[in-house]
Amino acid sequence: MELQREQWKSQLGFVFAAVGSAVGLGNIWRFSYMAYSHGGGAFLIPYIIALLSAGIPLLILEFALGHERMGSAPLAFAKINKKWEWLGWWAVIFVMFGIVLYYTVIIAWCLNFFFLSFYLGWGDDPNAFFFNKFLAVTKSPSEIGHIRTPILLALSVVWLINWGIVFRGVRRGIEYINKIFMPLLFFLTAVLVLWSISLDGSMNGLKAYLEPDFSKLSDPTVWIDAYSQIFFTLSLGFGIMIAYASYLPGKANITKNAILTVFINSGYSLFAGIAVFSVLGFMATSQGKPISEVVSQSIGLAFVAYPKAVSLIPGGNLFGAIFFLCLVVAGLSSSISIIEAFISATVDKFGFRRKPLITLVTIVGFLGSIIFTTQTGLLWLDIADHFITHYGLIVVGIAECLLVGWLFNIKVLRKHVNSISSIRLGYWWDITIKYFVPFVLGVILIGELYAEIKQPYGGYSWTALILIGWNWILLTVIAAFVFARRPWRTRYYEMEGRSQKNGGNF
Ligand code: PHE
Repeated sequence: MELQREQWKSQLGFVFAAVGSAVGLGNIWRFSYMAYSHGGGAFLIPYIIALLSAGIPLLILEFALGHERMGSAPLAFAKINKKWEWLGWWAVIFVMFGIVLYYTVIIAWCLNFFFLSFYLGWGDDPNAFFFNKFLAVTKSPSEIGHIRTPILLALSVVWLINWGIVFRGVRRGIEYINKIFMPLLFFLTAVLVLWSISLDGSMNGLKAYLEPDFSKLSDPTVWIDAYSQIFFTLSLGFGIMIAYASYLPGKANITKNAILTVFINSGYSLFAGIAVFSVLGFMATSQGKPISEVVSQSIGLAFVAYPKAVSLIPGGNLFGAIFFLCLVVAGLSSSISIIEAFISATVDKFGFRRKPLITLVTIVGFLGSIIFTTQTGLLWLDIADHFITHYGLIVVGIAECLLVGWLFNIKVLRKHVNSISSIRLGYWWDITIKYFVPFVLGVILIGELYAEIKQPYGGYSWTALILIGWNWILLTVIAAFVFARRPWRTRYYEMEGRSQKNGGNF
């Protein structure tokens, strides 16, 4: 079979795609709340330290790995050490049969709310509307209830769009759409920022968002959260950046591309936070309440606090529509990256034809997502998300560093990067990957496990946590082993890495 990998049309196209994956719901609703609750402007200190000490080195590592080994996560790992191929599979499986299943459902909610914005369809009590009417959440994860039709309809649209983009391929689908989506997203966000800072009371919101409180920096959870946010926001440990980098041409400016991706992504978070907090400031002022009473995070921010504010803003319908459109666009560019990571891995190993495979995976993904459109969807989503993002990503991150740092000659990888990049890596990078990042992630992992055992997460029953959360982890690990044990059906596995081809030694 033909062993030609598809390639990005330009390096800028690659950066757009990487940014598309990195900029997601997390930038809009996770970062701003974290900054607010962890010392405002002072949070930028642990955030930037985490960015420099772990985010950038690890992103360079994932780019370098995909590029040098010329493969998706399982292929790249297998070409370092066959025994670790399963880990690459685990990453792409738990994102494809975990994260993307509920991530697409959240995008579907956003799509519903986009339409609701036009006529302020949430009425006078957005909180009751969202939980009791729109989701109609049941009391416990064991009460599944029935499927919510508006969510299911929007979900099919979301999967159809995902399919349409990935189907067209890396260059004509993913690269093309991100070149439209990213500028559109930045433009729409800029409209929101300008509009929201012109509202009465916006400055109070910005003060709450950014006023530094350095005393918070002595709290270890602030540091842990900074590191996990960096990890999540840069889509590290998902196998995505590895797959995307495998489509780069031989000459690719790895370090510059990584740094660009990181700066655009974090810049976007900071910028979007201005819109979020200006609006909260406006709402607090117009209701005569302190900011602390109107602020909320993640789902509560987007689907309760924001709709409340939108109803108060003159011409708010449009404001709401733009906000939800931003979430849809940011979400779609991330969900396609997950699907691509999985597709790329299966094509690499089994040599399947891409197009029929994408259709099949889309159908399976859509069917799998349906569980999250039921009345218990929110509860399942919460549990699955907690386990996958807390353990999956971190474990993959640690293993990645150990694998490359200890079982591979990391110096060779650094040399490879330096031979093609404009910003050169020093010895510090080896040290960071070999010792520092695994250490920090190890500490976070132990802290999380300790908290897990001390108290059941989110007040759910142990049975629900074991059956949904732990079980999800277990099943995906088993699936990863099964995939890894299948024989290679393509010759990719036997191909040399790029630096071997160029005469480098391992
Ligand atoms: N970086 C994304 C975010 O911040 C995380 C993500 C990536 C989620 C890819 C899903 C898919 O939202």
